[in-house]
Amino acid sequence: MSRDGTIKDDQGQPGFDTVRGIRFGAKAVVILPYKDGQGKESRDPEARLAEAIGLAQAIYLNVVHSEVIRIRKAAVGTLLGKGQIERITAAIAATEAEVVVIDGTVSPIQQRNLEKAFSSKVIDRTGLILEIFGERATTAEGTLQVELAHLSYQASRLVRSWTHLERQRGGFGFLGGPGETQIEADRRQIRDRMARLKDDLEGVKRTRGLHRLRRQKAPYPVVALVGYTNAGKSTLFNRLTGAEVMAEDLLFATLDPTMRAVSLPGIEKVILSDTVGFVSSLPTQLVAAFRATLEEVLEADVIVHVRDIAHPDSAAQKGDVEKVLRDLGVIDGDKVIPIVTALNKVDLLEPDQRASLLASIGDDEVAISAVSGEGVDTLSELVARTLQASTRTHAIRLSQGDGRRAAWLHQHGEVVGRRDEEDAVVLQVRMPDEVKARFDAL
Ligand code: GTP
Repeated sequence: MSRDGTIKDDQGQPGFDTVRGIRFGAKAVVILPYKDGQGKESRDPEARLAEAIGLAQAIYLNVVHSEVIRIRKAAVGTLLGKGQIERITAAIAATEAEVVVIDGTVSPIQQRNLEKAFSSKVIDRTGLILEIFGERATTAEGTLQVELAHLSYQASRLVRSWTHLERQRGGFGFLGGPGETQIEADRRQIRDRMARLKDDLEGVKRTRGLHRLRRQKAPYPVVALVGYTNAGKSTLFNRLTGAEVMAEDLLFATLDPTMRAVSLPGIEKVILSDTVGFVSSLPTQLVAAFRATLEEVLEADVIVHVRDIAHPDSAAQKGDVEKVLRDLGVIDGDKVIPIVTALNKVDLLEPDQRASLLASIGDDEVAISAVSGEGVDTLSELVARTLQASTRTHAIRLSQGDGRRAAWLHQHGEVVGRRDEEDAVVLQVRMPDEVKARFDAL
């Protein structure tokens, strides 16, 4: 659906999203099922509810009611207890909501039962994030990965009972078939479509590999901004580049990496790349789609981790982001990349909070406000220093026949110059110290 709500679904009706038939601006109830006393649930429930409301608003739902629902033990068939269902049903009736967003995992059976009980559509956290990814994906690969994720999610929910809602046709036209034969046909259609998408993806990946190879030849270091959703990456990116990247108070304003050349103190040109925001407990179907948007991070010479230091769950968000970076191998892994942390939104801190933050700040951290600009110059200097410290150009002399070590250097560093001597070749190679150390040990 587009921002002005003019999109038409495959039946040509205006105002419908193409995926689950959710109307632009539809009234929505947002609930967070919350289990007390579990380690994993240690986050502030109100802050999590606020995040869920933000996610719902990111697909232009009109949130008319929201609440945290405490559950002791999830009911197998309905997730929520009877009294809770009655209460939500009353809230739906009172607000005339059309959609219920449940910020958690809802099984297909639970979804069906809840939709019956509520007489409204139910969308869970995976469905919600899929909608957002679908809305924001712009690169070819991002779009394909999201569609693939969507199909596998839809396939898992393709059960006969979909007919309980009178209009439940998906944009791909496979939901709502009445009988088993129809479901089988739909399944086959999904499988075929998924196979085709996978082929397309391979093609896109090959092309992207070529682009990347070309860019690597340019001797510019890459700085990647990462951070939890809404931490302020786009705002900082804009401040550093002066570019008009969409910065909104909408979660996930950026799904695909955006790149710009900027200069830093003492460094004429670096490529700054803005990435998609992270969220906690990313549904497994979405990991590939999300990773596709993050591969650029692996090319970075320095990562800037932008944190919302004024958020009540700031520490947990830091843990989420670091987990993904660890999974990517850039912390303690195969491809360690130096990380500088931007402690953003200091303008929102009370004076005593700010004082204690500044007292405990680490060497690789800078307190900033992307909105006021405070601390941003210091951040640029730290990034520049980190780049200079870790990546240098080394002149490496190899004997003419040493193809093996020459190939290694081409593979692991950026060869930016070459001089042939009588029985040797001198390569100018840009590489981080850590890579140079590995080369020396060959
Ligand atoms: P995603 O695209 O969801 O990943 O978000 P993002 O990290 O790119 O965040 P974005 O830059 O869109 O900022 C999110 C919200 O925080 C916006 O409303 C910004 O105006 C606000 N914001 C960003 N930086 C600051 C800051 O330093 N201080 C204050 N007060 N608000 C900020």
